[in-house]
Amino acid sequence: MAALTDSWMLGPVRIPNRVALAPLAGIGNWFVRLQARRFGAGLVFSEMVSSHAVHYRNQRTCTELLRIHPDERLGVGGPVAIQLFGSDPDVMRSAAAAVAAAGADLIDLNMGCPVPKVCKTGAGAALLGDPDRALAVARAAGEGSGLPVTVKLRSGRRPGSREGLDLARLLVDEAGVAAIAFHPRSAAVHHAGRPDYELAAELVRTLDAPVILSGGMRSAQAARDAWEQTGAAAVMLARGALGNPWLFEQTLGRREEEPTRAEVAAELDWVIDRAVEHLGEDRAARYLRKFYPWYIGRLGVSPGGAETLARCASVGEARAVLGDPEIVVPVERAASGG
Ligand SMILES: Cc1cc2nc3c(=O)[nH]c(=O)nc-3n(C[C@H](O)[C@H](O)[C@H](O)COP(=O)(O)O)c2cc1C
Repeated sequence: MAALTDSWMLGPVRIPNRVALAPLAGIGNWFVRLQARRFGAGLVFSEMVSSHAVHYRNQRTCTELLRIHPDERLGVGGPVAIQLFGSDPDVMRSAAAAVAAAGADLIDLNMGCPVPKVCKTGAGAALLGDPDRALAVARAAGEGSGLPVTVKLRSGRRPGSREGLDLARLLVDEAGVAAIAFHPRSAAVHHAGRPDYELAAELVRTLDAPVILSGGMRSAQAARDAWEQTGAAAVMLARGALGNPWLFEQTLGRREEEPTRAEVAAELDWVIDRAVEHLGEDRAARYLRKFYPWYIGRLGVSPGGAETLARCASVGEARAVLGDPEIVVPVERAASGG
């Protein structure tokens, strides 16, 4: 049996190991992907990007969401996948060409997003109920980009449905999709409940392409168990990796222990620096508010400290809060019990 540290082929693309960063809307920009890479992820997916916005060359979409940092390919190396959503094949063809020109190695298509704003346009999980359109969109992405195309989808739109399995087979057999990222929860439950790994195992057994498993892998043990139970080619970490890039190292068997508070503090510092580099001071200050809660749990932040951070109007203020011994208990004091 393969190990999670073994390389594998996704179509013509070599992936250095079997642990990937999942697409995360509003989160999976270049520096979050770079962070996952620094901790060993073999394959990283961008947050979902609107094919429509790329087609019409929306400036922020093209400069921020399609930005790939050269360092993303350092270390273990491995490809960067940009995830697109959309339901119009012509728009997808054009957007996919722009994504290839931006330097992506793979295009992933979102056919699992349950959010009404996306489904209303016929994209995301709505495509589970529209196989002809899904196939046309997937073919167009391949034609436009010349890159291997993967599709991330769910078991179905409603609990008990298997339409995702049927669509996965069609996409591979008839549209030449190179791999399926499978999240075995229905769109109706969003991200709640236990993923159906039996269903994922069935897809692995019956699909003529690799399956990347998504869902429910909050710890290294959970990831290893799910991987073994399903026989998937690779696993994809999502919520478990938020503020916790150490999960990549742990899942790859490179470390067992949880990060020290000093490591967490240094990592949060790195994230703050990268956010400023990406968005400038003002926008970074607002953007970072969603990142703090993922880190401060392990930093010993005093009651009320989290709220203070959530209100910080500038990055400088946030750094001052994080450096304030009344709010974040210093490592030495915590270690000595003082
Ligand atoms: C905040 C958030 C944003 C997400 N954004 C995307 C997205 O842009 N594209 C996508 O295919 N899935 C998205 N997902 C789904 C995840 O990739 C993953 O399939 C899901 O969270 C299940 O994995 P988990 O149980 O390990 O979190 C998102 C999930 C969360 C929690």
